Amino acid sequence: MLFFRGQGTIMIGVAKELTGVAQLAVRGGQPRVSRPLPAWPVAGEAERRLLLQVLESGIWGLGGALIPKFEERFASYQHTRFAVLAANGTVTLEMALRALSIGPGDEVIVPAYTFIATAAVIFQVGAIPVVVDIDPRDCNIDPVKVEAAISERTRAIIAVHVGGGPADLDRLTQLSSRYGVALIEDAAQAHGAEWRGRRVGSFGVCGSFSFQSSKNLTCGEGGALVTNDESIADFCRALRNAGRWTGRTPRRRVLGTDYRLTEFQAALLLAGLDRLDEQTNRRNQNALYLASLLQQMPDSPFIPALRDERVTRHAYHLFLIRLPEERWQLPLERVVEALQAEGVPARRGYQALYQDPLWIGSDGEGLTWRLGPGGAPEAERAAREVIWLPQRLFLGDSALMEEIWAALEKVWRYRDELRGW
Ligand SMILES: Cc1ncc(COP(=O)(O)O)c(C=O)c1O
Repeated sequence: MLFFRGQGTIMIGVAKELTGVAQLAVRGGQPRVSRPLPAWPVAGEAERRLLLQVLESGIWGLGGALIPKFEERFASYQHTRFAVLAANGTVTLEMALRALSIGPGDEVIVPAYTFIATAAVIFQVGAIPVVVDIDPRDCNIDPVKVEAAISERTRAIIAVHVGGGPADLDRLTQLSSRYGVALIEDAAQAHGAEWRGRRVGSFGVCGSFSFQSSKNLTCGEGGALVTNDESIADFCRALRNAGRWTGRTPRRRVLGTDYRLTEFQAALLLAGLDRLDEQTNRRNQNALYLASLLQQMPDSPFIPALRDERVTRHAYHLFLIRLPEERWQLPLERVVEALQAEGVPARRGYQALYQDPLWIGSDGEGLTWRLGPGGAPEAERAAREVIWLPQRLFLGDSALMEEIWAALEKVWRYRDELRGW
């Protein structure tokens, strides 16, 4: 605000009245993105037909045909033998830990940059999360930090494929076999993603997927555990269904619960799975185009997450862009607000897990965790620098990518309008 005198009275005006009209939409300018954004979720005739089929069958839950049908199709889609459908992608991670008999005293390595659920399930089973740093180039777990954090109590590594981009599955599978610790893939965001032509979820002993509303394959709420190990699949089916053992492998004791979902959800998933390849290909095409536009900017202040050349297909659930703080000299929140005003639904990404109030000072309050050697400065930096663009944008056309790029470029060009207010 500036104070100036006009016709004998004190007037209050904003800087734009002296220096010209503000350009940024957040300051009153015209939003740069004018095209309608693609809607999500997508549904059509196939969903209607299958939902009606379930409705009229009278079998809405246990005993229906669609859950087993989806499980079979999804398992093979992810290049695994078995899939167990469950209430959400949080409980599928917990099922994986319970199936591996991980519990009190055991340590599980997790990346610091992930959704809270990835680590919360470790507390849920009474084990100890050991939090390690990420590779700043793609925000995925850093295998060097994983190796440094392995102790005689380590039972598993949970690798998250952040934004749908596979973590380094060569190194992680090597570490898993060298140290005899289980690899669990949190593929909640990575349906259909591939590492060297093989789908994620098939590298670890278990993979875990989410079908929550925002996900690339969704039924509102849902999750799936995939595995090649039949005894794990049998255990998880029993765990999901009050402990009832129906499998062919030797029976294990299971303190069961109810993690079931309904036939209606399986109907939506079956219809959605038929669209997933086409959508994933479109996301890949658009995301690569946007990345190329950003890279063409001279000395670009927008650095898209690195896509490893071994990633043969990315899920692009999120498109991660780093805005280096030394270039911007602005709080990320303010840039995100400006982008949103331009019509780009960008979001700030994760904070480091232990920056959540749940974790702060939690030792001694029943939640025990530890930080791997060297801490997680890259995850903390990512929290200050990385923004996300959601998958639905990448279902648009190349003209939308150009508008998004233009909006990003505009916010950079007029960034001074974001200072001092
Ligand atoms: C990385 C990651 N793990 C786990 C989950 C949990 O999945 P759900 O929301 O289905 O419980 C999510 C969902 O957002 C996620 O992004």
